[in-house]
Amino acid sequence: MKNVAFIGLGVMGFPMAGHLAESGNFFVSVWNRSKEKSEKWGDKFQGSVAESVKKASVGADVVIICAGKDEDVEQIIYAKNGVLQNISSNALVIDHTTTSYKLAKKLAGSFQEKNIGFVDAPVSGGEIGAINGCLSVMVGGRKTDVNTAVPIINSYAKSISYIGESGYGQLAKMVNQICIAGVLQGLSDGILFAENENIEIGKLLSAISGGAAQSWQMENRALTMSKREFDFGFAIKWMVKDLGYCLDRAKDNKTDLSFTKTVYDKYKKIIENGDGRLDTSALILQNKGD
Ligand SMILES: NC(=O)c1ccc[n+]([C@@H]2O[C@H](COP(=O)([O-])OP(=O)(O)OC[C@H]3O[C@@H](n4cnc5c(N)ncnc54)[C@H](OP(=O)(O)O)[C@@H]3O)[C@@H](O)[C@H]2O)c1
Repeated sequence: MKNVAFIGLGVMGFPMAGHLAESGNFFVSVWNRSKEKSEKWGDKFQGSVAESVKKASVGADVVIICAGKDEDVEQIIYAKNGVLQNISSNALVIDHTTTSYKLAKKLAGSFQEKNIGFVDAPVSGGEIGAINGCLSVMVGGRKTDVNTAVPIINSYAKSISYIGESGYGQLAKMVNQICIAGVLQGLSDGILFAENENIEIGKLLSAISGGAAQSWQMENRALTMSKREFDFGFAIKWMVKDLGYCLDRAKDNKTDLSFTKTVYDKYKKIIENGDGRLDTSALILQNKGD
């Protein structure tokens, strides 16, 4: 059985590492920066709790990371006692964090120099997808590394899509986020328009949600948007981070993301108002000018 170390037991990482342990197919050890989460994980699942990134990395066949943003991953990888210094050659690193394309390329280069495999593998499906073990995972990297990663990722995924070389998992996730931003902008406009015409939202949704306007956001968020309930779901602070990576990459690949930039600016205003933890469907608040 492979030794798999899982670093980062946040909203997503905690249940993902749990599925790995419950599969019975791996020796799992976990590490989290704040100790309470790793202790809680250790109480709930079979596996060992490492005292440091170094201890988790030494002897691991595979190290999985699920942290917040670029800077966090860089710290975990490049610190003196970090993954790069302590992992064995021929091991594999899987990064589930949503990061920039630039970071994914940089990490792939650093690991390849030491003959260590690397795949960028951001996820989609939210907390509920992580809890139910049915995430969608977009993967970039060398095919041999991806082949090693797939049976491990399968423990918490319903679909694993190989997109291309290193960085392409992150690029696919960016497309996902660009599309969500556009859908939520349209949904916000549509709901506000309906409210101004006193159309009953439930009736409206049963009329249009099975047609060409249907979307995951309409199905799962339209009603709560109409009730102005946003205290759950995918936090705006993460969306701003992700759209920032998209806008940055769009400068390099020369895509006009002016519409996405408008949505990004609205989200930044919501963060300035102190509401960065709200679900991304809170975009409707900005559209009304609240
Ligand atoms: N939440 C979602 O619905 C969702 C959906 C799809 C993708 N994602 C992406 O998945 C990733 C994880 O999201 P999440 O919701 O699980 O975030 P989260 O709950 O904030 O967890 C982040 C984890 O990273 C750790 N961390 C952050 N900075 C660190 C550092 N410098 N050194 C060591 N550990 C560090 C945190 O440790 P502490 O416990 O010590 O803070 C925590 O365990 C993000 O990239 C996010 O964009 C999230």
